[in-house]
Amino acid sequence: MPTFTIEEDYLGEFVDPVNYDLEVGGDHPSHHFYANLAKQVGGTTLEVACGTGLVAIPLAQQGILVTGMDIVPAMLAHARNKSEALGLSIRWFQCDARNFDLSEKFNFIYMTGNAFQAFLNNADQQDLLQNIRKHLTTDGIFAFETRNPNWDDCSTDLNETEWMTYTNDKGFTVRITETREYDHVAQVLVYNLYRRWKEDGVEKERVTHIAIRYTYPQELNALLERSGFQILHQYGNWDKSSLTKDSPSIISVCKLA
Ligand SMILES: C[S@@+](CC[C@H](N)C(=O)[O-])C[C@H]1O[C@@H](n2cnc3c(N)ncnc32)[C@H](O)[C@@H]1O
Repeated sequence: MPTFTIEEDYLGEFVDPVNYDLEVGGDHPSHHFYANLAKQVGGTTLEVACGTGLVAIPLAQQGILVTGMDIVPAMLAHARNKSEALGLSIRWFQCDARNFDLSEKFNFIYMTGNAFQAFLNNADQQDLLQNIRKHLTTDGIFAFETRNPNWDDCSTDLNETEWMTYTNDKGFTVRITETREYDHVAQVLVYNLYRRWKEDGVEKERVTHIAIRYTYPQELNALLERSGFQILHQYGNWDKSSLTKDSPSIISVCKLA
């Protein structure tokens, strides 16, 4: 049985946080979804796998007491720089979500940016959920999303296709193309990303890989139940529409069982 782990060179997307923000930053309906939930729950909030704080920072700006944790020091350093520049008192911790202990419990814990999909095998998913459980108050809420698997996404295409073009922090135009390889047994999709740009007439290239685990809806529910969570709501999109076979996401709102 093939297994993938995050240690296999799959964190390369997160070594350049300034350009990460330029590539994927900006307002998104998910930010409003988690901000509303955090306000509804009240008390303290933890974002697991918070990256550069693209979501945690807007939450803190709305008065929510946010703590962020992530495994990549560079992502957290950028998050800290941004929050300090804005005068926000967010605590940032560098830890592995599969094994962490902040010695406190939170009223609301969320994971977003499809970060749940960074947990590539069953053992990592279980360890993640056990650690989240440990950090949740008895009446706390845990919410997260993961992409709803579909045959178009879960496929292999070794021809380079365009992903996006953007202007990087140095003002150069960067073109990003991708190839994808899906392992149907491991349910893991590996993207190979090629960033190409010209710096003063010289061609530059940076190649990174990212792996994402797809978890099927029935499998996800069994995993949550087995991990001691009760699903309160499950949506297929940020407008809280029901989960259907065509939904882009599986958004789960849970409490301790
Ligand atoms: C797609 S990014 C999402 C970041 C952020 N939640 C957002 O929405 O902008 C996934 C994040 O998961 C983090 N990550 C991956 N594996 C992790 C682990 N084992 N423990 C903690 N963070 C992890 C990565 O470092 C990265 O910042």
